[in-house]
Amino acid sequence: MAKTLAIASDHAGVAYKKDLIAYLTDKGYTCINLGTDTEDSVDYPVYADAVCKKITSGEADLGILICGTGIGMSIAANKHKGIRAGLCGDPDSASLTRQHNNANILCMGARILSFEKVIEITEAFLGAEFLGGRHQRRVDMLEN
Ligand code: RB5
Repeated sequence: MAKTLAIASDHAGVAYKKDLIAYLTDKGYTCINLGTDTEDSVDYPVYADAVCKKITSGEADLGILICGTGIGMSIAANKHKGIRAGLCGDPDSASLTRQHNNANILCMGARILSFEKVIEITEAFLGAEFLGGRHQRRVDMLEN
């Protein structure tokens, strides 16, 4: 089970990020908060990069990124070698992106989703495991 999570947001996602970290910490996860921590306008690629570095260095097992739509964060994160970021708006996609894509970062949109839905999606992502097999071949193709 993934225990250490790197989590960041831009200003659009900061309120959800704060509440999500509280929720996940209560559930026993170790959360590395990589900002931002105010509603002052910031640039989402900076925060995506910070989470990606924690994953690729092995300091965190999985990452979570929240911006207004989740789109900017996912575009930024997927530019990093070794990162597979899944933008999810429902729990089934979140389970499947772990099971099939071996996604190591979950991206969500705070301006799109209710906080309750963010919790459902996060639970589905963290509760699923990569299935390997034929999916491993496809994930390998993404890297090479
Ligand atoms: C910030 O206004 C917004 O552009 C950002 O949070 C995100 O939605 C980008 O994809």
